[in-house]
Parts: sequence; structure tokens; C-alpha cells
Amino acid sequence: MKFFIDTANLDQIKEAQALGVLDGVTTNPSLMAKEGIKGEKAVLNHYKAICEIVDGDVSAEVIATDFEGMVKEGEALAELHPQIVVKIPMIKDGIKALKHFSDKGIKTNCTLVFSAGQALLAAKAGATYVSPFIGRLDDISTDGLQLIEQIRLIYDNYAFETQILAASVRHTMHVVECASIGADVMTGPLSSITGLLKHPLTDNGLAQFLADHAKSNA
Ligand code: E4P
Repeated sequence: MKFFIDTANLDQIKEAQALGVLDGVTTNPSLMAKEGIKGEKAVLNHYKAICEIVDGDVSAEVIATDFEGMVKEGEALAELHPQIVVKIPMIKDGIKALKHFSDKGIKTNCTLVFSAGQALLAAKAGATYVSPFIGRLDDISTDGLQLIEQIRLIYDNYAFETQILAASVRHTMHVVECASIGADVMTGPLSSITGLLKHPLTDNGLAQFLADHAKSNA
């Protein structure tokens, strides 16, 4: 399973990249706003800066909600850097835009997906990635992981090439469950990746090994 980090924070992206297990980055307008990135030029420069840090796909979201607007914005984003993936919302014009970019060989990520039917449509339109938001489904007492399972089954039934990008991942168990189900990619905060390191038996075991080594070498 590929690990993406869901942030526009350059320091966190650098930290994840340095770990050696990062495969890409996802951003969204809220994450860009959180970093104080305002204005078209600053936004484009920020995407370029992210692409220069990470060795993998970088999702950049369009703001337009009409077909022509999404195409115009998406083409400008795709021209920025070969690693850019155009992120398109799951709306009617978004489906048309996914098909347009798929026909042109431009990578896409269909975002704000909350049902298997939406994921089926995104795959039919040729999306490179589909992003079911599991954490937001959990937030409303629905099982986000069950949706990943359902999409996996549908995509396998028909050998769709669209990759399941489990999004809105909140913690390490989401990551482990997504890997068990067979999600192709997960995107979450840095803590959902670094948290995988932690186990008290590892810490205790290492402390014991080091203490024993120190004793026998004293
Ligand atoms: C996905 O691409 C989104 O940016 C993201 O995963 C949303 O996560 P959130 O629900 O934690 O905001």
C-alpha cells in the first residue's frame, strides 16, 4: 500500500520524505488555507515546492465547480509539474472533467467520495485515484472501512484500474485496516504514519538489550 501524507505543511512533508516511506502528498483548499497560502501565484508556487520535496504524486484540487472552469484550472495545474494529480470533486461536471483528463492522459484524484455508487462512477470516468473519506464517515457514525471493502469488491469484479485512495485517515488503526482490506493508497496526517512505529514491547525490549550489552561490556 502506498503512503501519502495529507497536508500542505512543507516541514511535515520533509519529515515524512526523510523517513523513506512516503509515496505522495494530498492537499485540499482547507489544508492550503491552514498554511496561509493565498492567491493564485502563491498557490501554484506552493504546489511546485511540494513536488520538489516528494518523489511521487501530489494532488492539487481545482476550485471551479463547472466543467470549463475545472478543465482550465486542471490543465494549468497539470502543466506546473509532472507529479501533479488534478483533484476533482465528485459532482456531475466533475465526472465530465475526469473523463476529459483521462482521455488526455492527465492523472486525476476524484475527491469527496462517500458511497460505492460514487466510486463506481469515478472509475467509469477513468479516474486515476478515488478518494473515499473514511474518517468523515466514521464521524457521522457510519463505517468508513466498510465502504473501502465495498469499493475493493466492485473494482476487483470488473478489473477497474482506478486506485482506491483511502482518505480522511485519522489514526494508525485506519492505516492497518486499509492495508488488510487492500486499499491501494492511504492518505493521512504524519502521526498516522509515525504512530505505526510505536509499541511498548519494542521500547522495553530495546532498553533491556542495551542494558544487557552495557553490563556485559562493562
Ligand atoms: C483527502 O484527499 C482529503 O484531503 C482529506 O483526507 C480529508 O481529511 P479530513 O476529513 O481529515 O479533513
